Amino acid sequence: MPTILIVEDEPKMLRLLELNLSEEGFTVRAAADAETGLKALREDRIDLVITDLKLPGMDGLEFLQAVKRADARIPVVVMTAYGTVETAVEAMKAGASDYVLKPFSLEEMKLIVRKELDVHRLREENRSLREALGKRYEFKNIVARSPKMQEVLATVERVAPTNSTVLLGGESGVGKDMVARAIHQHSRRASGPFVKINCTAIPENLLESELFGYEKGAFTGAVSSKPGKFELADKGTIFLDEIGDVPGTIQVKLLRVLQDREFERLGGTRTVRVDVRVVAATNQDLRAALEQGTFREDLYYRLNVVPINIPPLRERKEDVPDLADHFIARFARESGKPIQGITPAAQKLLMDFHWPGNVRELENIIERGVALSAGDMLDVADVRLDLSPARGVPAVTGTAFPPEGVTLEQFEDGIITEALRRANGNKSQAARMLGISRNALRYRLAKIGVPDDPDS
Ligand SMILES: Nc1ncnc2c1ncn2[C@@H]1O[C@H](COP(=O)(O)OP(=O)(O)OP(=O)(O)O)[C@@H](O)[C@H]1O
Ligand SMILES: [Mg+2]
Repeated sequence: MPTILIVEDEPKMLRLLELNLSEEGFTVRAAADAETGLKALREDRIDLVITDLKLPGMDGLEFLQAVKRADARIPVVVMTAYGTVETAVEAMKAGASDYVLKPFSLEEMKLIVRKELDVHRLREENRSLREALGKRYEFKNIVARSPKMQEVLATVERVAPTNSTVLLGGESGVGKDMVARAIHQHSRRASGPFVKINCTAIPENLLESELFGYEKGAFTGAVSSKPGKFELADKGTIFLDEIGDVPGTIQVKLLRVLQDREFERLGGTRTVRVDVRVVAATNQDLRAALEQGTFREDLYYRLNVVPINIPPLRERKEDVPDLADHFIARFARESGKPIQGITPAAQKLLMDFHWPGNVRELENIIERGVALSAGDMLDVADVRLDLSPARGVPAVTGTAFPPEGVTLEQFEDGIITEALRRANGNKSQAARMLGISRNALRYRLAKIGVPDDPDS
């Protein structure tokens, strides 16, 4: 059984965690301060650390850094008092795997501990497997040269055959759809259905009936009964895309399906049982949505059993040349053009770009390039990168300052409206430009009085 080290200066809390985690079968080492904690780390093989951030002597953050220096792979879960989210964020930046806000339920702590240990074990197994076999993970039609994508594929290969719920994270266009399908195709359910539902694209009142179906007469216009996506996905996989946009009322129903795999159709009394594997995806920071109360915590923990985060393309530029070749071959074939490849100069352009729209943007640019190209190689003139300064470059320069008579808030409102304009009304993109979450942006827009259009 894994060994857990708990560092907490409050004796009651320490005792409570110690008892509960021991009851779960873990071996527990308890320490009342960071120094004792570090000693335990030197003496024992520790699989996971739980630490308070406020400690006497060496504080929790320093302790976290010391643990990471000793062994960067040990997952560290930090506990922090409600209202000090900033320190939690700092801890996450310093390498904490997750955090809980006090007061928390023991159930929550146990879920997090189990999840972190699972992820940790998976990573270790991946590593040793890879090392033993010198293996490269290859999936049909998925380009993955970079170590980061290799890691993603290694995890996909390990979780695909299980029934575990997977939560895919990553910016728009990084390949979440693609990975969701790969998970299905490599699972024992591959011959069953893969049913995708985009939770943003569907208005709230329709989303519920889309997911769970309805009985005849459930609402005006329900002239016959209809199964929902969950029923259609029976014996297969359901892919809940943009899960962060699911409204509260439906989150409750989803929670029940995730827990018990059962639900009732709208207007129905019969309980429907289904056998489905759930894969969800989001391009938002769900932790931020938790903090703002727009996403249920219990649902989050049910979804976040195996998290897979797909890094943005700018963090794995090694994939760019292979991706370019992959797309050139595909579009050349589709268009019947005799294009063989890309010139070194054009390839350099692609390497130097920062890819705010990730792989999808690269795919579009290659498609356009192939359509435009007259030769047998894609050249600099065929590669039309979107270099508009609105993207990636800070909107506000160092000299920007609210004009006379304009308050900081009004000034910020102006920047927010401008970001939305530059993003052509796309909130996710505007939020990214501003470096805030989509929900934070919606909140600000509501305050400014911009109508909330759910499709953008
Ligand atoms: N590693 C890859 N190899 C080959 N093709 C890729 C890769 N990553 C992404 N793609 C392609 O790029 C396009 C965008 O990927 P996908 O639709 O999966 O992104 P996404 O993360 O779901 O985006 P969004 O959040 O906008 O829905 C797709 O056509 C996909 O096939
Ligand atoms: Mg997608």
